[in-house]
Amino acid sequence: MNRDIADIRREYGLMDLVETLADSDPIRQFHLWLEQAIEAQLPDANAMTLSTVNLAGKPSSRIVLLKGYDRRGLVFYTNYQSRKSQELEANPWAALNFWWIPLERQVRLEGRAEKLDPAESEAYFHSRPRDSQLGAWTSPQSSVILDREVLERKFQELEEKYTGVEVIPRPEHWGGWRVIPETIEFWQGRASRLHDRLLYQLQPNGSWQCDRLAP
Ligand SMILES: Cc1cc2nc3c(=O)[nH]c(=O)nc-3n(C[C@H](O)[C@H](O)[C@H](O)COP(=O)(O)O)c2cc1C
Repeated sequence: MNRDIADIRREYGLMDLVETLADSDPIRQFHLWLEQAIEAQLPDANAMTLSTVNLAGKPSSRIVLLKGYDRRGLVFYTNYQSRKSQELEANPWAALNFWWIPLERQVRLEGRAEKLDPAESEAYFHSRPRDSQLGAWTSPQSSVILDREVLERKFQELEEKYTGVEVIPRPEHWGGWRVIPETIEFWQGRASRLHDRLLYQLQPNGSWQCDRLAP
């Protein structure tokens, strides 16, 4: 039954990733790869899989959009009452994964997540399209709802409520998380499954150690 799936594979080999050319700073290396993914016009180049783990040790994953990054970490926005947020409140360890298919590149990051300062969430909330702002008020993310109607009715009510109101307030239950990476791995597909993997690990003195991993 799974014969066709088992036959799906391809050779990689567009590019390589060597220690001597990779940046010694993984944040700069991440910046370079993300820029190249955006320049290559990959759809959703800023989409990343976020994995969290609940208190029972059970992991869960979903895609979120990267909305900013710098030396402090990688930022995404969500509902603070959602499953992912509840899991991060209980256990802040998170993993992020980017898979830029046409570039044959994967980046894996692991670290702790912290809620953004409300002022930062506030600034981003107000930069979003009005419909997205209303959407944040509309959706009790991750809760069971009766049907789609519930959402559409709520959205309509909110549209009416905020007609003529210029600034829609940010719901307190909506905001950003910053994942502060402690490890960052860059993976470049190579021929014969001999892929390149460079793992950067944050050291106690703040420097990054880079090691090559077997594919
Ligand atoms: C391309 C894509 C981008 C998404 N971006 C976000 C996002 O930035 N924030 C968010 O809360 N959910 C985003 N989602 C929805 C999540 O994958 C997920 O369904 C939702 O956050 C609920 O997850 P949870 O119940 O595990 O908390 C995105 C989904 C896709 C497919």
